[in-house]
Amino acid sequence: MRATFGGKVGAVLVTAGSAVGLGNIWRFPYVAGEHGGGAFLLLYVACILLMGLPLMISEFSIGTATRKNAVGAFRQLNKRWAGVGYLGVLSSTLILGFYLVVAGWTAEYMIHSFVNDPILHSTDITMHQASFERFITHPWKPLLYAALFSLGTHLIVSLGVKEGIERAAKVMMPLLFLFLIILTVHSILLPGGMEGVRFFLRPDFSKISINSVLAAVGQAFFSLSIGLGTMITYASYFKKNTSIQHTAVEVTVLDTLVAVLSGMMIFPAVFSAGIEPTAGPSLIFITLPSIFSSMPLSAVWSSIFFVLLVVAALTSTISMHESVTAYLHEEWRMSRKAAAWSTTMLTMLIALFSSLSLGAWQWMKICGLSLFDALDYLTANLMLPAGGLFTCIFTGWFMDKALFREQLYPNGVQPSPFYRPLRFLIRYFCPVIVTMIFLDTLGII
Ligand code: PFF
Repeated sequence: MRATFGGKVGAVLVTAGSAVGLGNIWRFPYVAGEHGGGAFLLLYVACILLMGLPLMISEFSIGTATRKNAVGAFRQLNKRWAGVGYLGVLSSTLILGFYLVVAGWTAEYMIHSFVNDPILHSTDITMHQASFERFITHPWKPLLYAALFSLGTHLIVSLGVKEGIERAAKVMMPLLFLFLIILTVHSILLPGGMEGVRFFLRPDFSKISINSVLAAVGQAFFSLSIGLGTMITYASYFKKNTSIQHTAVEVTVLDTLVAVLSGMMIFPAVFSAGIEPTAGPSLIFITLPSIFSSMPLSAVWSSIFFVLLVVAALTSTISMHESVTAYLHEEWRMSRKAAAWSTTMLTMLIALFSSLSLGAWQWMKICGLSLFDALDYLTANLMLPAGGLFTCIFTGWFMDKALFREQLYPNGVQPSPFYRPLRFLIRYFCPVIVTMIFLDTLGII
């Protein structure tokens, strides 16, 4: 018997656990900052509604229809499409590789908060910048933290789907939400904070290029954990009576709220402290400590927040790990234990190289980017949109229509008014738009 999640709430929390993570709190603000703030936010929300949600429902339907890992699922439905599953497993492996590095940074900040490191309380922003730089370029510290994070992920995945994954998600998700709200209010009230709110909410379309559209699609897919079969794997563990339409809507809404809240938390603090909103991946690691240092009991706040960030990252690393582990276990017939260890070893190795590419091995560059940045760009901006494109084409045009419908409306239930627009988005809108963006990026149109 295949394992299942405990029920409706369990399914939403575990799936939201995968979706909500560093993508919302670390990646979203820095990508939005690089692409002009408010206009990017609008594009992003449009991508989530018109492409992210339909694609998540598509992936869920493939998972519940087959009850298999991404490769096995595509293979069962149509052998010729197994390649899309392989692309997904490869994307999961590569993303996990660089994601563990950032997750390691959050773990380091958590420990520093616990031991009440005086640097974290400094009100001097250049101190935060310098200490972040020092840490990520340190010869072994970031490697150690990434490795520890990888082992933590391994442990939970080995405990199994229900015991490990579901329990962790159930407690921490609501807490994270509460904390984000409190910090957002505090950040907006900082002197100069309103300027950040304006930057984030007022669209300036002159900042938008086709590159921004690709970045918005990539960020939407990354944030919702779609385009790489993770949601196929997770849906394969849903109970029979879990509604995939409701689960997808709830997860999408939660994930988007967390991203918007993170933006509302980060940008006021960015402007208040005089940091450039285009600072890139270091953005939250410089801004968050500066938010905390302006609060009473700063060590307590920063400890709790970084614990929650670590957990948010953990519920996401678990989902990527699980989708590779499930593939190795079911397709290669490895024991679950051997499959989990192989995934851990491989992704830890990628994490070590990507971490080194920011520090001791800065010479290691691909097309002018560090391995870390190259993996981030390649996966989010190319592999996920490609995976999403093929998945939509598959569910829209090649998957048996009755089988797809049965996943959304089991036991002869009448389709809701939502069904026809959904089919339109999956069959026409998503494939056409993603293809056009690709062709444009490649300079073909
Ligand atoms: N959605 C996660 C986040 O926003 O942090 C990242 C992620 C998890 C991407 C799982 C892909 C994935 F399969």
